Amino acid sequence: MSICFEKLSHEYSPGTPFAFLALKDINLTFAEGKMTAIIGATGSGKTTLVQHLNGLLLPTEGRVTVNDHVIEAGKKYPKIKDLRKGVGLVFQFAENQLFEETIIKDVSFGPKNFGATEEEARERAVRSLKIVGITEDMFEKSPLELSGGQKRRVAIAGILAMRPRILVLDEPTAGLDPQGAANMMELFKRINKENGITVLIVTHNMEHVLDYCDEVVVLGKGRLLMQTDISTFFENEEYMKKAGIDPPSIVRFKRFLKEKGLELPADVLSIEELAAEIAGRYRR
Ligand SMILES: Nc1ncnc2c1ncn2[C@@H]1O[C@H](COP(=O)(O)OP(=O)(O)OP(=O)(O)O)[C@@H](O)[C@H]1O
Ligand SMILES: [Mg+2]
Repeated sequence: MSICFEKLSHEYSPGTPFAFLALKDINLTFAEGKMTAIIGATGSGKTTLVQHLNGLLLPTEGRVTVNDHVIEAGKKYPKIKDLRKGVGLVFQFAENQLFEETIIKDVSFGPKNFGATEEEARERAVRSLKIVGITEDMFEKSPLELSGGQKRRVAIAGILAMRPRILVLDEPTAGLDPQGAANMMELFKRINKENGITVLIVTHNMEHVLDYCDEVVVLGKGRLLMQTDISTFFENEEYMKKAGIDPPSIVRFKRFLKEKGLELPADVLSIEELAAEIAGRYRR
């Protein structure tokens, strides 16, 4: 599934005193089958950008292409429902959208709404709940009986049950404890690798970007600042400065080592590589 933004701008409430140009002239192509991080300061336009991918927001200038769907500014797009079948968008705090009386009903809702039979919808729901780690004994419980992290997993299962080829996640680990957040990222990586699903993930967590993603897109004040692969980004101090981010701990640690006179290769970006490199030097 290819995703492409061409000269895309988005203005909220155009023609009113509240008009605000949230995205400006974005040209961007997302690599198929990869896991891409979308980062940038608060208010830089990340949520606005991803909401164009399933027609929740429409461009006010330019166009978005998602596979054979082409959505152009100023034109109504008649096949939004079809587009949404292929693009699963998980909102920030998605757990707030659970509404059915049982977990299994909630997760079956999407497929049923898109035309699956009762039986098929249930089958898909069961499979998706298992993928996200919700066990069978919980299926008939009310979503209200779950913890925040479990609720979020159910909400994600609801999206997976639609079998999207593109999964878009807006700050999916916000508010989770570090272990819960890491487990969630592992889950997305698995979905990406095992099923070849393109994953776009909006996040403020640079450790997650470094550990799990293949590419990074940086937004700043509604503009595209850069798009690059992960190692190029974290090997380059200038890039991180331009993006206005706090580097991950491994990059900060290497910076301290450099100040103390121990300079390590730029492409050493994991604890394992760092340990091997230092041990190797001691041995010599
Ligand atoms: N419905 C709206 N009406 C008017 N302006 C809006 C609306 N939604 C967002 N904006 C503005 O558009 C800009 C981009 O917002 P957006 O939510 O896309 O940012 P973000 O990068 O997702 O930020 P965060 O990291 O805080 O989630 C912000 O300045 C915001 O105030
Ligand atoms: Mg946002």
